[in-house]
Amino acid sequence: MPSEPKSRTGSSATSLGTESPSGGQSGDNTAKSDGLDAFLERWKTVASDVEGTLISAIDRLGDDCPARLREAISYSLLAPGKRLRPILCVFACEAVGGDAHAALGPAAALEMIHCYSLIHDDLPAMDDDELRRGRPTCHIQFDEATAILAGDALQPLAFETILRSPLPPQAAAESCLALAEAAGSEGMVGGQMDDLLAEKRDTATMALDEQKRWLDAIHRRKTGAMIAASVLMGGIAGGATPQQRTALGLYGRAIGIAFQIVDDLLDVESTAENTGKATGKDSVRGKLTFPTVYGIPASREQARQWVSQAIDAVEPFGEAAFPLKRLAQYILDRSN
Ligand code: IPE
Ligand code: IPE
Ligand code: MG
Ligand code: MG
Ligand code: MG
Repeated sequence: MPSEPKSRTGSSATSLGTESPSGGQSGDNTAKSDGLDAFLERWKTVASDVEGTLISAIDRLGDDCPARLREAISYSLLAPGKRLRPILCVFACEAVGGDAHAALGPAAALEMIHCYSLIHDDLPAMDDDELRRGRPTCHIQFDEATAILAGDALQPLAFETILRSPLPPQAAAESCLALAEAAGSEGMVGGQMDDLLAEKRDTATMALDEQKRWLDAIHRRKTGAMIAASVLMGGIAGGATPQQRTALGLYGRAIGIAFQIVDDLLDVESTAENTGKATGKDSVRGKLTFPTVYGIPASREQARQWVSQAIDAVEPFGEAAFPLKRLAQYILDRSN
């Protein structure tokens, strides 16, 4: 499978890692092997365009923004992440016939909300992690208060970035609404709350069915909601028809769950060197994860089935769906 530099210090801030050789079977094997170089090149180009938008947003912060806050925002936002959500947004925009540039504002906004969620997720009060994207977490590099404030600042900056983008007003409003819903109490934040509550519960006393219900609901909101919104926001920027939005919705929700299942698997099977964050911590903290509830082989099989569903969902887009299909396969095979 493809090789991408593992270096986290290259000129581009993007970290793609390598896909695991185990691979997975999906409904469309051609999506797995054909055009890989072009796909990875496109990923890098889009990531670099999005990073340009992120840098412009930081540059726009005026003198009233304290230097320390700006530094913490830059430190986390420009760290080498995969930029998956922005890429999904741009690829979805293109899949419905839109111009990638129309999606750059929403794409950058998604990365800002995602980045804030990571900064807060790593805090001692939450997952208490010291390594993120191969670097010390924001609160380790700065301090807890600065990390909280950097995360807080990224939230309005995200909506500001959409509203300042060249999107027509109706599309900008729809984009903001989709992002607000995905990030909020019934989306990412709600999922994070239940993720932490599940840690405190004695899951041994929970019936297996209840564990599965909790787990699905946590993953659908804490990770799936933002990933589904990334695809939808791309569709909005590209002027998707209602039918296209429905197809993108099915695709986004399916890869969103698959993405977190694989994240859970990487926590068990991978290393900090590969992932850029501590591994083996979920079970220590008593998290409700796919491997703990279903075991490793069944978790991988579920991820495979979600990815297969996602690939089927974008079939109506024909050739234009290739990047989205390839991305779905990447989500299954990724190693970081
Ligand atoms: C990590 O997301 C947090 C989860 C939702 C599992 P990513 O794996 O996309 O992290 P970055 O952006 O590449 O650092
Ligand atoms: C976090 O899930 C999801 C969000 C940040 C919303 P995890 O806690 O599993 O993510 P990692 O493993 O720390 O990246
Ligand atoms: Mg967490
Ligand atoms: Mg975490
Ligand atoms: Mg995790």
